[in-house]
Amino acid sequence: MPAHTPAPVPSPAAPRALRVALLGCGVVGTQVARALLEHAEDLSARAGAPLELVGIAVRDASRPRDGVGTVIPRELLTEDAESLVDGADLVVEVMGGIEPARTLIRRAIDAGAFVVTANKALLAEQGPALFEAADAAGVDLSFEAAVAGAIPIVRPVRESLAGDHVRRVLGIVNGTTNYVLDQMDTHGLELSQAVKEAQELGYAEADPTADVEGFDAAAKAAILASLAFHTRVSIDQVAREGISSVTADDVAWARRTGYAVKLLAIAEQTSEGVSVRVHPALVPLDHPLAAVRGAFNAIFVEADGAGPLMFYGQGAGGRPTASAVLGDLVSAARDRLVGGKGPHESAYASLPVLPPAAAVTRYQVRLLVADRPGVLAQVAGVLADHGVSIDTVRQTAGEPPVGGAETGTASLLLTTHAAREASLAATVEALDGLEPVREITSVLRVEGV
Ligand code: NDP
Ligand code: HSE
Repeated sequence: MPAHTPAPVPSPAAPRALRVALLGCGVVGTQVARALLEHAEDLSARAGAPLELVGIAVRDASRPRDGVGTVIPRELLTEDAESLVDGADLVVEVMGGIEPARTLIRRAIDAGAFVVTANKALLAEQGPALFEAADAAGVDLSFEAAVAGAIPIVRPVRESLAGDHVRRVLGIVNGTTNYVLDQMDTHGLELSQAVKEAQELGYAEADPTADVEGFDAAAKAAILASLAFHTRVSIDQVAREGISSVTADDVAWARRTGYAVKLLAIAEQTSEGVSVRVHPALVPLDHPLAAVRGAFNAIFVEADGAGPLMFYGQGAGGRPTASAVLGDLVSAARDRLVGGKGPHESAYASLPVLPPAAAVTRYQVRLLVADRPGVLAQVAGVLADHGVSIDTVRQTAGEPPVGGAETGTASLLLTTHAAREASLAATVEALDGLEPVREITSVLRVEGV
């Protein structure tokens, strides 16, 4: 009997191309488009189906722009974002802002498209409604690029640490302000000059106030806190203070006393709930966060089982951010091909989000006081009255008496033990009204000790 010859297995039909709509062709969008066109074969092989860039929505398609007409065919540009979204399998939103980004993402989700966004401002404000819509439609809404640019942090916190208990997240999550503070520290630049440089380098948001005043970092802090603590945190629940009041003198003083000034995003779980805040802080020079230079970002995550973890890399800029967007896009394409969906939003813990006044931290207060006997005791008395404990005091000579005044001034540098924000605010107010206090030069929090 002849050996049985198995019938040839029909080769599975090649999957059809997935249609990718790109919303935005600015700093990030240009790099996403370039990669989709220049590395189409690799990306398609990794995704499991060809990824076809079918169009790029912009505000003004006639404006000359880098790469368009060469790498990026001009015909791909359109001002009709809605029609572009309607025909897409995968939508990448890198236009920024709340509207029309929100409506377009919602339109894409409702039509069954998988969505990738880098838009932290939108997620920190409207995330829950969009995640609910994505769950209902059975599609992915991915956002790795929305926090810390190229650094994989969303996926590690949401997926790799899903079996652990995160206690604290502490990070530098805004490249612009880190660049600005670093330039002020190392080159003595003024804040405005350094901001201008950051804009030219493509780090800053369209409106750099979002960076300088801490809104961008607050949006990222809200997203990170939501993921870390399985609790919905919106941007308006984040205590926020930017760097606009940080002076070159503060930065120089910090260095003289062993610190670097950094804009930190801090999210921690206490026995009372979740505290989320963004503010400039003094970080000891021997702490790894003090060594984060330029537009780089770094995030510490402290978890019960894993212990401390650190994530470091480029937090802004076109190519680094496009890397995270493309990673999400390949993942979304894979999910779409198998008819599955990535992780759902997890908000089951629903912990209380604490008001700003409940935050507990250490402070460094710099004062100019009259240089005469008993002043230090008066100052110490005010702190004691408010239950704020002094860790160290350092006095340096100020100005000698001038114009017939009885006393000159001395500069006092007080570092406190951990105290409640509310107690410190009341202390500063009382010090301001104390007769020998000539000026409260600065009040900065101390973190990472
Ligand atoms: P840009 O301002 O450089 O680009 C925005 C793009 O969106 C432009 O091409 C613009 O069109 C287009 N656009 C804006 N509004 C509309 C609209 N109403 N209709 C059609 N197109 C529109 O922004 P970025 O690339 O810097 O940032 C994009 C997103 O990525 C933002 O959410 C940002 O927060 C986020 N992000 C940015 C990072 C960065 O380093 N830049 C890092 C991480 C996240 P036109 O060109 O015609 O003006
Ligand atoms: N403007 C942001 C920054 C871009 O400076 O970090 C990255 O989100």
